[in-house]
Amino acid sequence: MRDTILVTGGAGFIGSNFILSWIRERSSPVVNLDLLTYAGNPANLALLEGNRLYRLAVGDIRDARRLAALLREVQPRAILHLAAESHVDRSIAFPELFIRTNVMGTEILLDEARRYWAELGAAEKAAFRFLHVSTDEVYGPLAPGGRPFAEGAAYAPANPYAASKAAADHLVRAYHRTWGLPVLITNSSNNFGPYQFPEKLIPLMTLNALEGRPLPVYGDGLQSRDWLFVEDHCAALRAVLENGRVGETYHIGGQSERRNFDVVRAICELLDEMSPDPALGPRRRLISFVEDRPGHDRRYALDATKIARELGWHPGEDFDGGLRKTVRWYLDHPAWLEGVRTGAYLDWIRLNYTERGAR
Ligand code: NAD
Ligand code: DAU
Repeated sequence: MRDTILVTGGAGFIGSNFILSWIRERSSPVVNLDLLTYAGNPANLALLEGNRLYRLAVGDIRDARRLAALLREVQPRAILHLAAESHVDRSIAFPELFIRTNVMGTEILLDEARRYWAELGAAEKAAFRFLHVSTDEVYGPLAPGGRPFAEGAAYAPANPYAASKAAADHLVRAYHRTWGLPVLITNSSNNFGPYQFPEKLIPLMTLNALEGRPLPVYGDGLQSRDWLFVEDHCAALRAVLENGRVGETYHIGGQSERRNFDVVRAICELLDEMSPDPALGPRRRLISFVEDRPGHDRRYALDATKIARELGWHPGEDFDGGLRKTVRWYLDHPAWLEGVRTGAYLDWIRLNYTERGAR
């Protein structure tokens, strides 16, 4: 077996950061299977242009024939499965798409991976891994003051995205129990960093604040999330892939719980410092409380003790340091931002925000 790994969804936010860091840290080949939906952007991987270790294969994880042919051709030693519909608000607008991609797509991918794996020689079969990248949202909301969720907590997803990811996690475990497919599952908290599509909280607020547009905080803004710098997530995925125990689940949390309102205020302060605009004044004036997300989970947080104990992984970046790097990155990449503000992006902003009343 060759060294190649197959990454699904590698043109998205986490996938592209993962591929860039994998090639930088491991100098080992990657094939990226990505459908290039609105969230998939080959420009995220522009730094790898001409690099012989990287190849983009445009295709759908729901296309079994395409998958079978690609696996036969590439002969990967591992599959890292990141392809998904990932935005909660979109799952409320278009739930069926999330079932098709996240549930059906994962099942079809698992099935082709199982067939491919079953035919490998003994050594390759033992070394093969299927790493499924999932989310803390599968556990549903955490009570204020409650202890962060540890591996094995009961699943209680509360929005269509979370439910579709929960179903996918169950399928991955089922393929391990039923057929012995050597799987690993990771559940991570909210990522932030370079190349995140500006539909998610941090890049959306950064872009709006930069341009002096309103900052739409849902509900009372007191919901909290456990923020994880994307580079730290990528390091954790490498650790799990290389040393995780087959069949196990690992939580990857940032240990940086912050309320949404505080995150938005911090972005405003950073931009006031890095890109002052006297005509705007302090950007926190742009904050506007708007109608809440239906079923909005108040709090997520993960207990990441197991990955620290077994694999020695800890987040390297704290929230303030990571946010500073992230805001700097967006300021330094206006062409990237211009490139993602396509019709699909503008349609989404209109759909999600125009009719949204004040709170
Ligand atoms: P993203 O939306 O930025 O990227 C998703 C990628 O998947 C895109 O490149 C898209 O083109 C591709 N894709 C979608 N449907 C596909 C299909 N049918 N076939 C092939 N490719 C397809 O998502 P992200 O934020 O990078 O998240 C990546 C993974 O990590 C997802 O599985 C998500 O559930 C999980 N996750 C994300 C976070 C987070 O904070 N962003 C946290 C925990 C877990
Ligand atoms: O927890 C992990 C999950 O984090 C991932 O699995 C998802 O793929 C990812 O999208 C993210 O989900 P969230 O819903 O937590 O992320 P989002 O950036 O959409 O929102 C973060 C918080 O900010 C949430 O409480 C909703 C709020 N919010 C979001 C937007 C887009 C606002 O108040 N206003 C907004 O305009």
